[in-house]
Amino acid sequence: MTNTLLRGRVITFHHEPTGPDDTDAYTYIEDGAVLMRGGMIAATGTYDKVAADAHGATLVDHRPHLLMAGFIDMHIHFPQVQIVASWGSQLLDWLNGYTFPAEAEYADAQHARAMAGRFCSLLTDHGTTTAVAFCSVHASSAEALFSEANDRGMRMIAGKTMMDRNAPETVLDTAQSGYDESKALIERWHGKGRASYAITPRFAITSTPEQLEMSGALVSEHPDCYVQTHLSENHDEIAYTAELYPQARDYLDVYERHGLLGPRTMLGHAIHLRDREIGAMAETGAHPVFCPTSNLFLGSGLFDDAGLRARGIQSGIATDIGAGTSYSMLQALNEGYKILQLQDQKLHTLRAFHWITRGNAEVLGMADKIGSLDPGTEADITVINARATPAMRLRMDRADSLSDELFVVQMMGDDRAIAQTYVAGVPQKNEKN
Ligand code: GUN
Ligand code: ZN
Repeated sequence: MTNTLLRGRVITFHHEPTGPDDTDAYTYIEDGAVLMRGGMIAATGTYDKVAADAHGATLVDHRPHLLMAGFIDMHIHFPQVQIVASWGSQLLDWLNGYTFPAEAEYADAQHARAMAGRFCSLLTDHGTTTAVAFCSVHASSAEALFSEANDRGMRMIAGKTMMDRNAPETVLDTAQSGYDESKALIERWHGKGRASYAITPRFAITSTPEQLEMSGALVSEHPDCYVQTHLSENHDEIAYTAELYPQARDYLDVYERHGLLGPRTMLGHAIHLRDREIGAMAETGAHPVFCPTSNLFLGSGLFDDAGLRARGIQSGIATDIGAGTSYSMLQALNEGYKILQLQDQKLHTLRAFHWITRGNAEVLGMADKIGSLDPGTEADITVINARATPAMRLRMDRADSLSDELFVVQMMGDDRAIAQTYVAGVPQKNEKN
């Protein structure tokens, strides 16, 4: 079994920091080390102490960089890698004009396989080690993503999108085929290696009530699977949903009445919410997912982080590629910070880094596996270089605390600030920065 000892400055979170001075929320070690053994974290602590027990381990010296848990992206679309930065429209026109045509190409299994490799490399280049991903409607796209992630030993939560109306024929299934293909993928992949299945009705507009009914059946037959969909991203989307589901009390009720809400349900966007919907989320434990770069790019609106938190709701945070404009969770934090600024809310940098690591792991119910550097968890580790660019170096010359340094990384960092990414103990970036 390979033993690797990483040396560097170590930071790992234990719970969400209540503020900049909440030093109990995390451990920071100036001369620290993480011992990786068989894809797991065997020990984390001071270099002297961990090295003393690391007989025969290969040493990789990452000083002066920071070792942190790998980032978790809670909402991303695998078949949208080639439409990032497509100009000029808001949600529904963007879907029809760019997204559905691009996703139609994933009917070709060879294309899906080629893109799955590129997608996973992009994730790890940006420090992301786990993603919650939408595939296209074609079962072969989910097959391609799961097998690529499996080959890399990468934790992946994904699902074949179900959509049976209001889109071109080339990206439609039926209520029955959506159910059958999802079920077969669940049986093949859920719980295999590091894979988990997410039952994935795209959103209310592209699913008939029959399809949502059958999605609900899948949820009750496979309660340990995740559910991912979209909620209240855009005003036109909400109005159209109300027309399609006139009996529903509101948008969330469309999902609620079909048995799709629970603690394993991830609701992308969740921007324009009514009070009842927020109450129902709190009651069912369903999680909103904040997608900052996407919400700005499509002009969708401002996510009310403080309002949801005040109701005891724990949100995820994500890139939402391809409406999102960067694969970097650092950039999600950068734009997220600004969205909160516009509402006179604050995203402190310690909370921000907790969010993209342990926070998102908690939302997934996986904090015992990923999201920290705790011994016994999986060795998914991101190595951060706060001096990655000339502009960052200049700014870092004035950084006077850990929070200050992390804030520079949050606002100015991207894949250049990721010196290395380990997935189950294996380095993913070729060049060592
Ligand atoms: N709502 C339904 N599908 C999508 C999608 O692919 N991206 C975004 N941003 N919103 C959606
Ligand atoms: Zn999405």
